[in-house]
Amino acid sequence: MKKLRVGVIYGGRSGEHEVSIASAAAIFKHLDRTRYEAVPIRIEKDGRWVLPDKAPTALSASEVIDQARLTSARAPRAGRDTLMVSHPGEDTLVTIERRPAEDSGEPEGAVVTGLGLDVVFPVLHGPYGEDGTVQGLLELASVAYVGSGVLASAAGMDKAAMKALFAAHGLPQAPYEVVTDFEWTKTPDAQRARLEALGLPLFVKPANLGSSVGISKVKSANALAPALATAFAFDRKAVVEAAVPEAREIECAVLGNDEPEASLPGEVIPSREFYDYEAKYLDSASQTIVPADLDATMVARVQTLALHAFRAIDGAGLARVDFLLSRSTGTLALNEINTMPGFTTISMFSKLWDASGVAYPVLIDRLIALAIERHSARQKLRTSAF
Ligand SMILES: Nc1ncnc2c1ncn2[C@@H]1O[C@H](COP(=O)(O)OP(=O)(O)O)[C@@H](O)[C@H]1O
Ligand SMILES: [Mg+2]
Repeated sequence: MKKLRVGVIYGGRSGEHEVSIASAAAIFKHLDRTRYEAVPIRIEKDGRWVLPDKAPTALSASEVIDQARLTSARAPRAGRDTLMVSHPGEDTLVTIERRPAEDSGEPEGAVVTGLGLDVVFPVLHGPYGEDGTVQGLLELASVAYVGSGVLASAAGMDKAAMKALFAAHGLPQAPYEVVTDFEWTKTPDAQRARLEALGLPLFVKPANLGSSVGISKVKSANALAPALATAFAFDRKAVVEAAVPEAREIECAVLGNDEPEASLPGEVIPSREFYDYEAKYLDSASQTIVPADLDATMVARVQTLALHAFRAIDGAGLARVDFLLSRSTGTLALNEINTMPGFTTISMFSKLWDASGVAYPVLIDRLIALAIERHSARQKLRTSAF
């Protein structure tokens, strides 16, 4: 049987660049070489696409950061700069590389190469990767890819859109308001009244980002303006929401297309006041408990809501759905859905599936099969009325 060529796109223009590299390293390490041939494709932090000479090997974000410090001091990471262009047809994604004259003796020019990919695994987190942009490129190229399509990826990344979809489906969430930089500047008093009606403390978040970047917890009325200023430095839109009192952070993994399944829930115990960037990636004191200590009724409720949230955004392939469960009131609120969650072997997503009987290599297999299934179904659709 011919091996499937899997393009793994990783890195990316986001704060989660390092986590993505670690996720990709885990995929390269565990991909079944008898069935798949893997092609590394890296997006640098500045957005350049590179065909690296070697696949990444660092298996955690902090290891990636350490490695980068060491190598950038000596030499840039090895690889060829390339442009990735969609080319529906025989070969769906082609790379265009600049050929310098001194290299080959041939005249300077562009070299166009077909990558011959059967499926792409865009293991990118955050903006410019998990938000539908790369998914759009892959759609244009008509290539099968792992995970959600353009709409679900974009909706999962934009907290305002995501919450509106959850609300439309009647899913429980903390009370919230959306405010734009323009509204806040133009009518601060009216906005303040609307936002303060949510009570205190509040969480103020840029609508599009991740890794807790730009998020503040507001405990007093005079801390609202600086928190909004921080959020507006990252996005023109902010989500302001009531804090869930004494929140436990419960997460549930989803796998599938039209018949998604939910894993056992897990719990994150942040090492800091809330699960901010430091607590997530840099400081190893945050703990994960898999499976979470919840009674059977709550487990079922988390799983049902996770599947409902996945359907509400029209998700595909995989997602991690995060909840806030109040210790004081016992209320369960949806917090967010991540359409490309961290995918290292020690990431919550993988741990949850492992605890639910799906080992990491099997997870990769399933995701690739789901990508191909979705792509074939789509290929069969009519594209014209005639
Ligand atoms: N309404 C809330 N009540 C209590 N804690 C919250 C609330 N919203 C966010 N948090 C805390 O902030 C963290 C980051 O918020 P989240 O919306 O998940 O942003 P991100 O997309 O960056 O992960 C959460 O993991 C949680 O610790
Ligand atoms: Mg989160």
